[in-house]
Amino acid sequence: MATSLEPTADLGLFDAVVNLCKRRGFVFPSAEIYGGIRSTYDYGPLGALMLRNIREAWWRAMIQERDDVVPIDAAILTNPKVWEASGHLATFTDPLVDCRTCKERWRADQIEGTCPNCGSADLTEARPFNLMFKTFVGPVEEDSSIAYLRPETAQGMFVNYLNVETTTRRKPPFGIAQIGRAFRNEITPGNFVFRTREFELMELEFFVPPADSPRWQQYWCEERLAWYVRYGIASEKLRLRPHDPEELSHYSSGTTDVEFLFPWGWGELEGIANRTDFDLRAHQEHSGTSLEHFDQATGERYLPHVVEPAAGATRAMMAFLLAAYDEDEIGGERRVVLRLHPRIAPYQVAVLPLSKKETLSPLAREVLHRVQRRLMCEYDETQSIGRRYRRQDEIGTPYCVTVDFESLEDQQVTVRERDSTEQTRLPIDEVVSYLLGRLDL
Ligand code: GAP
Repeated sequence: MATSLEPTADLGLFDAVVNLCKRRGFVFPSAEIYGGIRSTYDYGPLGALMLRNIREAWWRAMIQERDDVVPIDAAILTNPKVWEASGHLATFTDPLVDCRTCKERWRADQIEGTCPNCGSADLTEARPFNLMFKTFVGPVEEDSSIAYLRPETAQGMFVNYLNVETTTRRKPPFGIAQIGRAFRNEITPGNFVFRTREFELMELEFFVPPADSPRWQQYWCEERLAWYVRYGIASEKLRLRPHDPEELSHYSSGTTDVEFLFPWGWGELEGIANRTDFDLRAHQEHSGTSLEHFDQATGERYLPHVVEPAAGATRAMMAFLLAAYDEDEIGGERRVVLRLHPRIAPYQVAVLPLSKKETLSPLAREVLHRVQRRLMCEYDETQSIGRRYRRQDEIGTPYCVTVDFESLEDQQVTVRERDSTEQTRLPIDEVVSYLLGRLDL
């Protein structure tokens, strides 16, 4: 996996997207007025909208459009015994080395024997560093009140396996899905939102009869690859890569990553792991509660195996932005355009009165109110219409609806499409159905 910017990487695209994110309000350095906090980001108005759309696109594909997956929303703080049983307390570590010359700290597996900061080869021995953030529950800071911020959402689904199976009357194969924040005290976060200490996970734990797990893992690899294509990433920029045995997480018998061609090389978007019965067995042993499934048809009892597609929403956002970024020329003028899928774009529609004159405002707002009941809209009446079109192109809005002085007479408006810039005149009464028909919503 690419982990740091390589000197040969084409950084033009990376810089352009990072600048656009700041300039237009997708992503801000967290607490910027206090100098920020290293590699932590706040999602601005456009970023919050886009992240929400990514979550919804995942939810739609993984839950809404299926009949074998149910959602849960588990707590971030949980009983620390969960992390003891899951193996995270003992083995969720990265190898840490210190540079004795400049005092920087690095992940030993990401550098090649010399400090990337000062070039010194005088490094300490690698020692395991646990990535979980520790905190205390209640007012007293003592060992018995230690708790951890979850480094993955998966455990919330394993410890609730029985509750979900019983209350929803499911039997394998079926899945439990969850979206939520996860926290890892990464030694070297970086590459913008690619690797951060707080990020958003979208995870499915799919419980299957043990013999069926290889087939389901193959199935989920194909499904997940297709999801990124469905939402606008060209298939040439995606690939599936099976892990080498030494890369595998402590719980996995085999993992395949969906990778995206980032400006610095191939990097992981999500991992599809065969977690076997590792987690259910561990929780069964540590809790003393049987988590076996009883198959009434065969009279067999077994611990289901788990296939887990685990995707990062914040990392996916970066990939969608990089894949969508384009520059072209319209009427001799250079423009930046984000060719985002309409379901992923922050706004689906911008409603633009041709002029700020008060006579246009009431009709333009009426159009806005009609459209915003169904679609996320921005209303903008500042600057020239040309500049407003460019601004919407740059933030990926698929359609602009312009209300002009003729609209007052003929009750028609102009709809402009982002990619082709083609304009269509149509009655206000037809605008909503026209847009819904074209937005693949
Ligand atoms: N439950 C399995 C699990 O968490 P993972 O491969 O460690 O698997 C899944 O993480 C996904 O989460 C990754 O493919 C990546 O997209 C995202 N991810 C992991 N660590 C991240 C970080 N520090 N910052 C942003 N995204 C991260």
